[in-house]
Amino acid sequence: MSEVLRLGIAGLGTVGVGVVEIVQKHGALLKRRTGCEVAVSCVSARDSSRDRGVDLSGYGWVDDPVTMAERDDVDVVVELIGGSEGIAYDLVKTALSNGKSVVTANKALMAHHGAELAELAEANGVGLSYEAAVAGGIPIIKAMRESLMGNEIAALYGILNGTSNYILSEMRTGGRGFADVLKDAQAKGYAEADPAFDINGTDAGHKLTLLAAIAFGVKPNFDAVELNGIEHLLLEDIQFAEELGYRIKLLGITQKIDGAVVQSVEPCLVPRSSPLWAIEDVYNAVYVDCDAVETPFFSGRGAGRMPTASSVMGDIVDLARGIRVPVFGMSSMHLLDAVHAPMDRVKSRFYLRLNVVDEPGVMASITAVLRDFGISIESMVQRGRAPGEAVHVVLKTHGALTGDMRTAVEQIGALDVSVEKPCLIRIEDDL
Ligand code: HSE
Repeated sequence: MSEVLRLGIAGLGTVGVGVVEIVQKHGALLKRRTGCEVAVSCVSARDSSRDRGVDLSGYGWVDDPVTMAERDDVDVVVELIGGSEGIAYDLVKTALSNGKSVVTANKALMAHHGAELAELAEANGVGLSYEAAVAGGIPIIKAMRESLMGNEIAALYGILNGTSNYILSEMRTGGRGFADVLKDAQAKGYAEADPAFDINGTDAGHKLTLLAAIAFGVKPNFDAVELNGIEHLLLEDIQFAEELGYRIKLLGITQKIDGAVVQSVEPCLVPRSSPLWAIEDVYNAVYVDCDAVETPFFSGRGAGRMPTASSVMGDIVDLARGIRVPVFGMSSMHLLDAVHAPMDRVKSRFYLRLNVVDEPGVMASITAVLRDFGISIESMVQRGRAPGEAVHVVLKTHGALTGDMRTAVEQIGALDVSVEKPCLIRIEDDL
């Protein structure tokens, strides 16, 4: 093991600055812990003149980050640029090809190109680590890729996007509107460069792809994730859920059904008895259903400068100690091309919020559709009374196949008495 590990840090946004701060603050501690000095050789960002609140004067400045991959004074490229294509992809690929290890927080890159990059890292005998890409400060990749390797995993449920969780929590506790709360999340540095990725499920989908790959030993396949975001949820849904004893959480879920892998991101009703219920604000959590350890549960800060930088440093420390773990928990040649199954085959209970005209016979036509699909109603609540006008009606169903439920809801939405698209949310009672 060399006595110094030299970093090239590409990207000095929220996380990059956090990494520099930790290296500067904990240099001596890191050396004691690893037996190796962790030093920054050079940094790169778009604007060299901007004051980032940290002293960068001792480091080389690189205009084109891809050239870091060719520098003799860089052992590890720390890629914090983001984005699945372009500079980040070129940099990581070049670094691995040139025999440099890579530490990245780039979930989009890993979700889209993880299989190819893992192969490249193996072929060149270097590390490719991405703890910070999933669930911010929670060491979930390490847990999944190392500690849980003795388990067969049946399913995994995660609150994987801090911004969405923050929005849902703030809407509930403050009765505040969606757009207002999103602005707060952006100001706090939680949101993605494109915040649409946070609220439409894409960001959580990237992270879920990586967890599913490790859980089931399959090549990461983001295209097989069904994405549903939180944009269509009303404050009323959050309030109805609470009255029923649930909270709405944007969950990334992967599970096996008859040997096929199902991957989805969707808002779900989570019961009070679930550990996920209490995960609020920017916190993330992962609940794993395993055969040996049963249901380990992890939680912590899912976004923000220092929690994410903490995860980057964990990966750097592994490299400083000479530790390299297979990227997705096994050699690339053993990763399978998964057979993916659609959500339609998943059975669960559902919450259905309708906005319908308050007149005789409306319930009969709605329940007739559900009856035709063999869907049984557990309870029904009508909010207010407004003869001839629209009212919210909320139904809870017994277990039904998602495919049947979705078709039934489409038919209910097409009825003349429906004045708005119905809102269908899965209820996750077994967590
Ligand atoms: N925008 C992400 C989130 C940051 O809100 O969770 C961490 O990946």
